[in-house]
Amino acid sequence: MTGRTSLTIVLAAGEGTRMRSSTPKVLHQVAGQSLLAHVLGAAPAGEGASLAVVVGPDHQPVAEEAKRARPDAATYIQHERLGTGHAVLAAREAIAKGADDLLIAFGDTPLISAETFARLRAPLEAGAALAVLGFRAGDPTGYGRLLVEGNQLTAIREHADATPAERRIDLCNAGLMAFDGKTALAIIEKIGNANGKSEFYLTDAVEVVRAMGLQATVIETGEDEVRGINTKAQLAEAEQIMQARLRKAALDAGVTIVAPETVFLAADTTFGKDVTLEHYVVIGPGVSIADGAVIHAFSHLVQAAIGKKASIGPYARLRPGTMVGEGARIGNFVETKAAILEAGVKVNHLTYIGDTHIGAGANIGAGTITCNYDGFNKHKTLIGAGAFVGSNSSLVAPVNIGAGAYIGSGSVITRDVPDDALAFERSPVVVKDGWAKRFRDEKAAAKKLK
Ligand code: UD1
Ligand code: MG
Repeated sequence: MTGRTSLTIVLAAGEGTRMRSSTPKVLHQVAGQSLLAHVLGAAPAGEGASLAVVVGPDHQPVAEEAKRARPDAATYIQHERLGTGHAVLAAREAIAKGADDLLIAFGDTPLISAETFARLRAPLEAGAALAVLGFRAGDPTGYGRLLVEGNQLTAIREHADATPAERRIDLCNAGLMAFDGKTALAIIEKIGNANGKSEFYLTDAVEVVRAMGLQATVIETGEDEVRGINTKAQLAEAEQIMQARLRKAALDAGVTIVAPETVFLAADTTFGKDVTLEHYVVIGPGVSIADGAVIHAFSHLVQAAIGKKASIGPYARLRPGTMVGEGARIGNFVETKAAILEAGVKVNHLTYIGDTHIGAGANIGAGTITCNYDGFNKHKTLIGAGAFVGSNSSLVAPVNIGAGAYIGSGSVITRDVPDDALAFERSPVVVKDGWAKRFRDEKAAAKKLK
């Protein structure tokens, strides 16, 4: 942009009752990130850009999420829910600071992009007092209709107040607006509540602008970008659209995705070069995958950092705090949590690794369990570089297995094992020659007599 300063106000004081949920609407997630965080991520940021979020009176979690997603956000409380025009004025103090551009966005439109925010600001530079984002709705029911004469926007008519002829208009108000900062506050303060709902409609700003002899205009975008979320069905639709976008972005960045329609990504997933994702991989928030790593089919990853050329799955579950070193391998039916696996570690089958640090090159046999929880506290397991843990061992934490140590299969290890030592724990093996045959013969004979 052109060095104009901006204030973006995101309205998030809605109750979202149609979600039928005790979670505030804007905290529902799309691609592992709250609706609000998506909008805040698209809003202008950096030098000259300030941000305000309007939240409901008992919505502390919404205010916290705003701060988490954008630490520069100021939050304002709308004490009574009297409409979108009223909500904007909850942030009057921020508006009064007089940014060049005032942008208003809704917290429930997670698919909005940064480019669209920029596009909407352009008409202000050309002298418009207000630019409204419009779209052609497949089904316009419920949306405000944009009344246009030539290239001028003359009014926005809310669905409830529209005449039958106006209801046939499919050009709708997306909710995103940009005001020239010089006149914004004067315009919004003039909005009244003389409508069917006695609400202060932000949309009435258009008629105020016209009455002041100023200009309002429309910038159009596609419907998918401005879908508002009011129901769980709409949330699921938005997820689909977002997943399609994320898959395309990953493919464009060079990730090999064998069956993109089966793979789910998070908004913050990062990829190195030559990464492969096989079928049915699900990636939650906080995952990074470095160059050359392969995530095999049916794996589930959340908050995990995958090193270069590592191999994960098929059927692996990587939970928060997992770090997999270069060339390490995690195989089928392995679960990890708060686990650091250094380079070249192998955990190939049927294993739980929790609260554990494994040194480079160690080999963890099939069925190994780190027993990290005693019902009250979690404890750590440390396994040194090059150690070999035999199959079906239980490592009862807190416990240290030294570098290069060897654990015999089937052991329950309850105390520390020094470097290069052998530790095992098992009963003697009893072998009775011919016993099985005698047993079978006796049983078979007894059955025949019956
Ligand atoms: C609004 C628009 C409509 C537009 C549609 C697009 C108005 C009057 N109507 O209708 O023209 O087509 O969005 O999705 O603006 N909010 C508050 N405080 C309030 C009221 C609302 O913070 O007092 C917030 C909500 O949390 C929501 C946003 O403002 O994020 C929009 O409110 P909502 O009730 O969803 O408006 P719509 O009826 O969808
Ligand atoms: Mg809405």
